[in-house]
Amino acid sequence: MSYSSIRVSTLRGDQHIDFDIYVKINDKHILYLRQGDSFEGDRLKRLKEKKLKKMFILADHEARYRNYLQSNIEAAYDSKSTKSIENRSQIIQGAQQAHAEEVMDNPGDQFAYEQAKSGMSKFFEFLETEQKALAHILKIENMDQSIAHHGVTVASLSQSLAKALGMGDSKMNQLMGLGAMLHDLEHFNSSLVVARPLSQMTEAELKIYKEHPRLGAQKAADKKHFDQLVTQIIMQHEETVDGKGFPQGLVEAKIDPYALVVGCTNFVDRMISFEATPRQEVSKKLLITGLGKYPLGHLKALQGILNQNL
Ligand SMILES: [Fe+2]
Ligand SMILES: [Fe+2]
Repeated sequence: MSYSSIRVSTLRGDQHIDFDIYVKINDKHILYLRQGDSFEGDRLKRLKEKKLKKMFILADHEARYRNYLQSNIEAAYDSKSTKSIENRSQIIQGAQQAHAEEVMDNPGDQFAYEQAKSGMSKFFEFLETEQKALAHILKIENMDQSIAHHGVTVASLSQSLAKALGMGDSKMNQLMGLGAMLHDLEHFNSSLVVARPLSQMTEAELKIYKEHPRLGAQKAADKKHFDQLVTQIIMQHEETVDGKGFPQGLVEAKIDPYALVVGCTNFVDRMISFEATPRQEVSKKLLITGLGKYPLGHLKALQGILNQNL
């Protein structure tokens, strides 16, 4: 029997599957979920707790799986959909996460990159028109400390922050979103455990950590299809206006404004996704620890967004 792998991040929502799903244990494919089931609530939660990224279907069922994806995403983006906005947000978040995983898994895959790029403009349009979507997206816990999930959260927050700051060029914002989604490209396949406060890292680990923007940007720049702003955001997302960021220690005037927006929202989701900061403390902590690192206007605007949506 031959099997094809599928991404767990695409299995969202209340729609029933019409294919069997297998997990691979010791080189054996074990039936995990039967046709007719769905991935609601607890089932998806348990799956994420297992930190499983890929599952399997019979190769013969690939067309059914693609139909499932297609109808899920179409229904989610349909503004007249009878599904709840919470459910639609979950499906769309999952689809975005799958885009991020595809590109980070294989940055050389130009098709995956273009798919992620067009997915981003649809995603931002959705966030723009559905006022409650951001809150539902932020509510989805990053239980497996996924770099791709983190990227989607940073992209969502960046869109809101750019809007609040009056950065209204939709083409540039789309590229910013893509850069935000892929900003930690280097972490995706790294063995360094990044999901902990930097204060817990040894000096040697910190040294490796501080190279992740440069190495990620190099990977992106090597592939000719990466847009320049995307590469720039990967390179500069850890820079801060006091010149104490990394890898280059740039001063404010030298940091790309879009990279600064992403840097600021990344700072927030690092607290939530990787440092286990209680959500009710994030907004306050942002101002205390972010002051001096990011412009006050950015911090205040981001606080407003968090107070409304977190
Ligand atoms: Fe980073
Ligand atoms: Fe990050």
